[in-house]
Amino acid sequence: MSEELTTITLPPPRFDSAYSIEKALLNRRSVRRYLPQALSREELAQLLWACQGISRVKSWQAGRRTMQTSYRTAPSAGALYPLELYLMVKRVEGTEPGLYHYLPGPGKEHHAIELVQTGERSAELAEAALGQRFITEAAANLIIGGMVGRMAGKYGRRANLYVVLEVGHAAQNLCLQAPSLGIGVVPIGAFSDTAVRRFVGEEVEPFYILSIGKIG
Ligand SMILES: Cc1cc2nc3c(=O)[nH]c(=O)nc-3n(C[C@H](O)[C@H](O)[C@H](O)COP(=O)(O)O)c2cc1C
Repeated sequence: MSEELTTITLPPPRFDSAYSIEKALLNRRSVRRYLPQALSREELAQLLWACQGISRVKSWQAGRRTMQTSYRTAPSAGALYPLELYLMVKRVEGTEPGLYHYLPGPGKEHHAIELVQTGERSAELAEAALGQRFITEAAANLIIGGMVGRMAGKYGRRANLYVVLEVGHAAQNLCLQAPSLGIGVVPIGAFSDTAVRRFVGEEVEPFYILSIGKIG
């Protein structure tokens, strides 16, 4: 498979809108019924950016070397960024159904998804989530996974807690972005870890699934 086929550059996110944070807080609800229409690439891009996109790039000097830290929309203990997002696409305009991995950078404007595996596996994901059927009706399902090992060197026994807290920040960002786009989301914590690991690989611990779909 060629590089062009495996990596899709997403539309740049927008950094402003007329929809206030107060309105998003008021209107956020767990939504489990969706319209059959597809998400646009712009909508998908905006949701992924809200969840884990780059919001600031800071350059600094370490001796002679210029270093960069890319800060994200959600806070991260020690700016170590242990989260990995996997998206199961069912209906996204111009995008082949399959499992994709989110690539947040480089920079605030540039982000992408890379194809991990073709084929629509939402029925299998619903099964892994104890038969929650609305997962199969969503336009896409996002799995937020974490690599606790990335935190362990610095934070030891608190690493797992810190990753879980960060997952909550990231998930809430997505939940608050969704209402302005006419998109419904539900966060799902009830699933078999072992079964969901089949989607994200052995190195990533799955913490949350978010079902995503148009609601008008
Ligand atoms: C940690 C966590 C796990 C959840 N797991 C599920 C789930 O497995 N399935 C589901 O339908 N909703 C799940 N929810 C959503 C809750 O049911 C929902 O937030 C609650 O009913 C309150 O409704 P609201 O989100 O519309 O305010 C979960 C929420 C949280 C915070």
